[in-house]
Amino acid sequence: MRIVLGVGGGIAAYKVASLLRLFTEAGHDVTVIPTEAATRFVGVATWEALSGNPVSNSVFDDVHQVNHVRLGHEADLIVVAPATADLIARAATGQANDLLTNTLLMARGPVLFAPAMHTEMWQHAATRANVETLRGRGIAVLDPASGRLTGADSGPGRLPEPEAIFDAAMALSQGRSDYQLPLAGRTVTISAGGTREPLDPVRFLGNRSSGKQGVALAVAARNAGASVRLLAAHMEVPPPAGVEVVTVETALQLREAALAAAADSDVVIMAAAVADFRPAEISDTKIKKRDDTADPVITLVRNPDILQELVELRDVSDRSQLIVGFAAETGDGRGDVLAYAEAKLRRKGCDLLVVNHVGTDKVFGQDTNSVVILARSGSEPQLASGTKSEVSGAVISRVGFELNHVSPRA
Ligand code: C5P
Repeated sequence: MRIVLGVGGGIAAYKVASLLRLFTEAGHDVTVIPTEAATRFVGVATWEALSGNPVSNSVFDDVHQVNHVRLGHEADLIVVAPATADLIARAATGQANDLLTNTLLMARGPVLFAPAMHTEMWQHAATRANVETLRGRGIAVLDPASGRLTGADSGPGRLPEPEAIFDAAMALSQGRSDYQLPLAGRTVTISAGGTREPLDPVRFLGNRSSGKQGVALAVAARNAGASVRLLAAHMEVPPPAGVEVVTVETALQLREAALAAAADSDVVIMAAAVADFRPAEISDTKIKKRDDTADPVITLVRNPDILQELVELRDVSDRSQLIVGFAAETGDGRGDVLAYAEAKLRRKGCDLLVVNHVGTDKVFGQDTNSVVILARSGSEPQLASGTKSEVSGAVISRVGFELNHVSPRA
């Protein structure tokens, strides 16, 4: 595809360099048109080097090629990111005072705006009206992500992550109407990895969780436009870019982090493998082998069930929040996976339970990456299988569906 990438003058312009890479790596021919203000954030040389095409922002460069007509006509897709309040206003009023706004007026293909600005500017009546005008003309304007902005402030107005804009752009170019990011403006907390319960300064009780599933979920949620908080217990994989990471070690630390994060989260996904028990006592010094004393006996005490507590807290505070649990189940002589999982869903009270089918089973008979998503609302169990990232995509789109189409705690 021939893509015109319009870059507005906002600090988020630096993130658009990654978006450009995603387009070129997918084989698209990209012409970047920065506004004058954008070149104060990211220089023309960066856009030329990354796109492999000449870059100009003036209608008076290469006049013989009539660029302001040619670029708009030839583009299969125009993406504007970051779309600043000023750029949105100029586009809404049909101004043609630089190469980008000229190109927008000549566009024949789909146009996607990815706004980024401070919350007040995004919510201002003038911007709202301009966005409605653009949408009314068939221009796709993404809702911005919610989260940390340039200064100390946070709220809706963050540029969605490059991967999210890329996905929306591809959906739009295929004529799909569901290009809008399903989790735009939502805050999603995801726990990942395995907790470690210390016995002494050097030893712990742990589990085999790698954190891969939780990290894949964080990527999928981020790409769906959410502002993601990853509560990372021990993980064998690095956390992804573009998410806020809170590192924890024990179940009790995870509980504290989860309860704090849940207070302002639209969705909480407990993908971490939380130790059910911890040593009753933690020795201050390394437990030594000694011939003159008996071998140590470790007494375990039960850890709180964080998922269940989150559900109880949500219910008493009357919060509208979607809570998702994970469960690794095997069938046995007394019951099948589905029966066990349904009992767990009822016991825990969460809205969705993603059942990781461990081992082979007659009912589902899939590979180890196949999951069943059970809903408290009683809808049919949904199967999803494939790579961890494909499974995460299915879980996150189900989360988006529940948030946007199913009334909370129906
Ligand atoms: O009961 P079980 O451990 O099988 O439930 C798994 C689900 O509960 C997972 O979502 C896990 O993150 C969560 N869990 C929890 N606190 C615990 C144990 C499990 O939140 N102490």
